[in-house]
Amino acid sequence: MAFNLRLIQALLVLAISIFHSLPGVEAAVGVNWGTTASHPLPPPKVVELLKSNNITKVKLFDADPNVLQSLSGTNIYVTVGIPNSMLRSLNSSKKAAESWVHDNLTRYFSDAGTGVRIEYIAVGDEPFLQSYGDQFHPFIVGAAINIQTALTAAKLANKVRVVVPCSSDTFASESSLPSKGHFRPDINETMIELLTFLNKHRSPFIANISPFLTYRQNKNITLDFSLFKETAHPLNDSHKAYQNSFDLTYDTLVTSLSKAGFPEMEIAVGQIGWPTDGATNATSSIAEIFMKGLTEHLHTKSGTPLRPHNPPTEIYVFSLLDEDQRSIANGNFERHWGIFTFDGQAKYPVNFGQGLKTLVNAQNVDYLASKWCVVNNNMDLSNASASALEACSVADCSAMSPGGSCFNITWPGNISYAFNSYYQQHDQRADSCNFGGLGLITTVDPSMEKCRFSVGLQTSLACSLHGSFLIYWILLLTAAISLCLWSPT
Ligand SMILES: *[C@@H]1O[C@H](CO)[C@@H](O)[C@H](O)[C@H]1NC(C)=O
Ligand SMILES: *[C@@H]1O[C@H](CO)[C@@H](O)[C@H](O)[C@H]1NC(C)=O
Ligand SMILES: *[C@@H]1O[C@H](CO)[C@@H](O)[C@H](O)[C@H]1NC(C)=O
Ligand SMILES: *[C@@H]1O[C@H](CO)[C@@H](O)[C@H](O)[C@H]1NC(C)=O
Ligand SMILES: *[C@@H]1O[C@H](CO)[C@@H](O)[C@H](O)[C@H]1NC(C)=O
Ligand SMILES: *[C@@H]1O[C@H](CO)[C@@H](O)[C@H](O)[C@H]1NC(C)=O
Ligand SMILES: *[C@@H]1O[C@H](CO)[C@@H](O)[C@H](O)[C@H]1NC(C)=O
Ligand SMILES: *[C@@H]1O[C@H](CO)[C@@H](O)[C@H](O)[C@H]1NC(C)=O
Ligand SMILES: *[C@@H]1O[C@H](CO)[C@@H](O)[C@H](O)[C@H]1NC(C)=O
Ligand SMILES: *[C@@H]1O[C@H](CO)[C@@H](O)[C@H](O)[C@H]1NC(C)=O
Repeated sequence: MAFNLRLIQALLVLAISIFHSLPGVEAAVGVNWGTTASHPLPPPKVVELLKSNNITKVKLFDADPNVLQSLSGTNIYVTVGIPNSMLRSLNSSKKAAESWVHDNLTRYFSDAGTGVRIEYIAVGDEPFLQSYGDQFHPFIVGAAINIQTALTAAKLANKVRVVVPCSSDTFASESSLPSKGHFRPDINETMIELLTFLNKHRSPFIANISPFLTYRQNKNITLDFSLFKETAHPLNDSHKAYQNSFDLTYDTLVTSLSKAGFPEMEIAVGQIGWPTDGATNATSSIAEIFMKGLTEHLHTKSGTPLRPHNPPTEIYVFSLLDEDQRSIANGNFERHWGIFTFDGQAKYPVNFGQGLKTLVNAQNVDYLASKWCVVNNNMDLSNASASALEACSVADCSAMSPGGSCFNITWPGNISYAFNSYYQQHDQRADSCNFGGLGLITTVDPSMEKCRFSVGLQTSLACSLHGSFLIYWILLLTAAISLCLWSPT
């Protein structure tokens, strides 16, 4: 009897160890939720959107109280972010780190389903980006250490991990060969300090990978290779055949980590996606092919040539929603990374682990009135272009760039597009459709073919704040009046 039990025990242990040595578990798929928008979808609506699409992980870029409150009690796993601008003070002051943890973590944290299920603190966002120079990287490790210390003091170090999302220009390789991968020489030493820190606290290395940007920057990479399409000509590197751009970048990182002395470092992908407007080959149909290729690749659990048994543990799609105020320094496509449009409408189906499904749109979205601002054709339009350019300097005209959905609308349609974008961004205020008398407000949708003239969203913040203040004053007034009426004269 006892013998049999021991045998069963041994078999169980064997079964478990075989299970663990099999190709890794499928990566958990989450989304990045950014809020660099003039009229962001209200956080409770976004949370509804996440829930109705079974999205269980979300990565934030800051610690906005409205966003964290909306995520409270949802069981969604959350990464809260610390903006790069705070790194300097968090490096130099343990007190600042303590305050940050107190105000932005302890206050919301819960792993019991009542508060916010925070699992990571992302210290900085792509602080090693080459274009930043040494603006942020001298502070990153110090800031991470101070946050970790504050986390330990708050007794949360075993529940929340500190990570640093890194851009893919943090590492590089000669001739695109993964076996030649290495971290950028100017940040080599900082990177070793960071890896030592991450390793000590068993935090993953977070890398943002962008096959779209790689395709734009590297003439040797084809679109098919970027989109996970079958290729008769894989890229060969030291007896390994690379079938797609994702594996190429991922293994370049694997080599870089090995050379830095951390061959076993766990990797998670912090951002990956494909934009749908504002550049050539940035369309919904190509984005759909990319996302389908990516999710199928992850589904096979086969990993990459250098890590066949250790695929990334988690990936975060970039991004949930389009954001009309993102910097376009790198290109106009920057405002079109969403799998949903700015108002929460799905652009294409995505597989979040339950199979390829049409995504559920945001419901009961509060739009401004069905009004647009266009150019008045009865006026002398000789100066209209100048007004349009001015409008575009603050509004979002990124869809009009080459390859964009509004690139080929004819003059003066492009002027109208600019005017309308400005008008919506200014909450359809009458004076924002003036343009020296050239603007005209219309209730006829001027959209043409692929070029959509959008109607803006109600600003949630202004609305809900005004709403609650109004109710507050009405209550106060009612109370005062009833007091007056009842007071004995
Ligand atoms: C979400 O999950 C539930 C339960 O597993 C399922 O019924 C539903 O179809 C899923 N929704 C989507 C959009 O995948
Ligand atoms: C980071 O903070 C430490 C401790 O206050 C300080 O000694 C160091 O100079 C700071 N690093 C930079 C680059 O300012
Ligand atoms: C908490 O996070 C918010 C948003 O990122 C930031 O503005 C604030 O300064 C943080 N609080 C502290 C004490 O650092
Ligand atoms: C492109 O391929 C050529 C030939 O294989 C190679 O010499 C070159 O370094 C590659 N360029 C890049 C940017 O990888
Ligand atoms: C980076 O640092 C490692 C370890 O100190 C060193 O072996 C390597 O040569 C360095 N690489 C560069 C390019 O500086
Ligand atoms: C890589 O090797 C395979 C098989 O040896 C070959 O068919 C393919 O053309 C090679 N790829 C390139 C880009 O040379
Ligand atoms: C990608 O863009 C190029 C250049 O505009 C174009 O020739 C090609 O047809 C596009 N590919 C797809 C799949 O749309
Ligand atoms: C166009 O602008 C110029 C220079 O500001 C001005 O002199 C001219 O009157 C304007 N024309 C119209 C039709 O508004
Ligand atoms: C714009 O170009 C697309 C193809 O790139 C075409 O299908 C569409 O009809 C054009 N629209 C206009 C208004 O010319
Ligand atoms: C609109 O199109 C005209 C003619 O193609 C061009 O000269 C003008 O610069 C465009 N204006 C804007 C704001 O795109």
